[in-house]
Order: sequence, then structure tokens, then C-alpha cells
Amino acid sequence: MSRRKIIAGNWKMNMTPTEAKKLVAELEPLVKNDSVDVVYCVPAIDIVPVVEAVKGTNVQVGAENMYFEDKGAYTGEICAAMLVDAGVKYVILGHSERREYFKEDDALLNKKVKKAFEAGLTPILCCGETLEQREMGVTLDWIRLQIKSDLDGVPASDVAKMVIAYEPIWAIGTGKTATSDQAEEVCGAIRECIEEIYDASTAEAVRIQYGGSVNAGNAAELFGKPDIDGGLVGGASLKTDFGSIINY
Ligand code: 13P
Repeated sequence: MSRRKIIAGNWKMNMTPTEAKKLVAELEPLVKNDSVDVVYCVPAIDIVPVVEAVKGTNVQVGAENMYFEDKGAYTGEICAAMLVDAGVKYVILGHSERREYFKEDDALLNKKVKKAFEAGLTPILCCGETLEQREMGVTLDWIRLQIKSDLDGVPASDVAKMVIAYEPIWAIGTGKTATSDQAEEVCGAIRECIEEIYDASTAEAVRIQYGGSVNAGNAAELFGKPDIDGGLVGGASLKTDFGSIINY
């Protein structure tokens, strides 16, 4: 079975709605590629204009976060039903920036993952180690802990459809990409972990991305690895380089 690659841009806190529409138009001819899934994960305020702007193209839209409650008094939050109604298909959950700056923990992320599936969204669940953890030699233990906690109680049928993004924190926004062997080692370990919790067919189906300083120059090597099914791209997704990454 061969998994379809999925390459997603994570715009983070960049692009006003006006700038977002401009970027989508600029990238449109560059990101055409019918053999991969292309996703723009955009700030909440850009969702409506970007969904409109990508209509009729090969691009789908993702959110960068959501809350797990259905509705109510949660000032500033956005629920899954709002995303679905706006035309969103994917949602990034547990990005290291949310874990670090907004103190999101695995118990919260587990609720978010379950809610995303319940609403019909595909989660892009992020995991990754710090430089300190890598140097201590606990990378794989840490990643396994994150995956097991975040997926606790999530059925195999859902996991088979989801996306997991391995993003070593030391490689995010630093220009210091993991080598393709380092990235493959962890992505392979994530797949083994899924096989251990679920079964071989679920492990075979789940798509695992690498993220962290992916650029036009390193995408082909990273995405050529057997357990790397595409990328989650930050900085380079805001530039025309993203077209080269899509067409690696
Ligand atoms: P960079 O590609 O800018 O390193 O960001 C990676 C990332 O955090 C994607 O979610």
C-alpha cells in the first residue's frame, strides 16, 4: 500500500486577510500537483477568505488550533463545528508553540483530537523533542509518551485517517533541519508505536509528516524516506518556495 503524500503549510501568526488572499493567488499556479495533498493551515481570521480563495483549486484549508468544547462561554476560542461550517478539513493540534507558550498538555490534546474526529476534521497531531531531550537520548521515549497520551482512547479507524507531524523543536524556525536519517528514525518509531497500540494496517495507513526548517532544497530528500509522508512547513510556506516543495 502506498500512502499519498500530504504537504501542509503552517502559516502561524502571519498574514492579514488581505495578505492571505494575495499569497493564495500568488501560489496558485505554483502549488498545482495532483499527486499530493496540499493544505494551508491558516490563522482563524484568514479561514473564511482563504477557503473562498482556494475554491476550485487542489488546495484544502486547515486551522492551526481549536477548542474541545462544543460551544459556550469560552471567550476567544473556536470550536470544531465552526471550522467545519467554514469549510475547514484539517486542524493542527499540539504544535510545540502551543504546548510551550499556551501550556497545552497531553490531556487537553487528547480531548481535542477526539473532538476533531467527532466533527469530521482530520487532525494533524504534532509531537517533537527539545534539543536537551535529544542530547539526553530520550527522544524516542518522549515521542512515544506524547503519541500514547494524545491518542488514548482514539479508535484505530480514526488513527488510520489522521496525520501525525514529527517536528523536533530544535529544528523549528532555526534553519537547522534534522537530517533525513534522523527524521526517518523518529517517523519510523512513531509508526512502530502505532502498530504496538493498534495493529499493522493502522500503522501502514497513518500519514506521518516531518516538520522543521523544510525548504525547497531539502524537501525531496526528506520526503523520499519510506516513513515520511510529506511535511509540515512553516516559514517556507509563506513564499513562492512552497511551490517547489509541493513539486519536490
Ligand atoms: P519552520 O518550517 O519555519 O521551521 O516551522 C516548522 C513548523 O513549526 C511547522 O509547523
